[in-house]
Amino acid sequence: MLLAALLCIAFWFPSGFGVQSLIELSPSGLDSLLQDYAFRAFGKRAKTGIVYDGIVPSNLTGIKVAALRLRSGSMRRRGVKSFKEFEIPIGLIEQPYVERLVLVYHNLGNWSELYYPLPGYTYLSPVLGMLAYNAYNLSAKDLPELDLRASKEPMRINFSFSQTTNQEASPKCVHFDLDGSPEFDNVVDKNACFATKQGHFSIVVEVGGAAPAPAPRNGAPGNGGNHGRGDGDGKNRKKVYAIVGSVVGGMVCLVVLLGCLFICLKRCRDRKKRGKMEATADLDVPLRMAIVGNTKAPVASEIRTRPMLEDDYLI
Ligand SMILES: *[C@@H]1O[C@H](CO)[C@@H](O)[C@H](O)[C@H]1NC(C)=O
Ligand SMILES: *[C@@H]1O[C@H](CO)[C@@H](O)[C@H](O)[C@H]1NC(C)=O
Ligand SMILES: *[C@@H]1O[C@H](CO)[C@@H](O)[C@H](O)[C@H]1NC(C)=O
Ligand SMILES: *[C@@H]1O[C@H](CO)[C@@H](O)[C@H](O)[C@H]1NC(C)=O
Repeated sequence: MLLAALLCIAFWFPSGFGVQSLIELSPSGLDSLLQDYAFRAFGKRAKTGIVYDGIVPSNLTGIKVAALRLRSGSMRRRGVKSFKEFEIPIGLIEQPYVERLVLVYHNLGNWSELYYPLPGYTYLSPVLGMLAYNAYNLSAKDLPELDLRASKEPMRINFSFSQTTNQEASPKCVHFDLDGSPEFDNVVDKNACFATKQGHFSIVVEVGGAAPAPAPRNGAPGNGGNHGRGDGDGKNRKKVYAIVGSVVGGMVCLVVLLGCLFICLKRCRDRKKRGKMEATADLDVPLRMAIVGNTKAPVASEIRTRPMLEDDYLI
């Protein structure tokens, strides 16, 4: 039983406290996995200026990736007319500077909600991502993202969405920074968004139409500066589930362990007691006697709770 308890603890804690067990990958973990799969699309010969579609592992079916290798000077001077839904404007610059870079495109498809939960909103379009990496080593993994900034015009993203929306509800552009915090902006030309940075993008509509969201935690809609809260809630919720799960599991383990300990101690004590009783029996002294005043009285072999002096509390 003790063994069982120890095994239980050994297996529970590492998986329980790594929130990974529930969402498998964090959004940034997904980014770096998709970077690898997008880079693989280049194969042996990676021509610059050609869009290569990647193949994702089967456990991520539904996600699309693509990669485009560019000389950074030509990207800055000429832009790219169209890279999937993205229009790369003139003046897009990367930090730190690299000679050639790879733009990686994500379409998270039916995984959008899972990786970018946004409580209080419904996605009208899959979450699309645009991230930049150094093109120096096309077989590199775990590359850090380059910081992309539009210095002249913003990037434009033409979304295509089919869902019929509540007429009164006004769709919003949402942009997730690499740290996952959402920012809201207005939709342009009914289905397009502007972006000045890399990250993930989509069009959302508030649940419940034009009326303010019932949950005020999402902040005022449309103020364009709602950082962090909504997305944080979604992530926190998952974290909370994981933590509650871990705590409950941990407590079960603890109870089992304590049970074991208790049983062990009890057995130990019983054995000691029995040993003592046998010893006393052997000596043929049934009970120890003590002199109390003028009379002899038997004393229990067990130690009684000693009275505690009040001074003890002061120590
Ligand atoms: C999917 O499988 C790949 C290997 O095929 C693995 O590296 C990755 O962690 C898995 N991703 C998820 C989200 O399960
Ligand atoms: C986006 O839509 C605008 C207006 O319809 C069009 O001019 C532009 O070429 C489109 N860009 C992409 C990348 O599809
Ligand atoms: C998305 O759809 C694919 C099939 O098209 C499925 O295999 C995958 O499990 C789905 N992903 C999610 C998160 O539901
Ligand atoms: C490119 O990255 C791979 C994988 O990390 C590594 O094995 C290889 O040595 C790198 N090549 C260069 C030229 O840095």
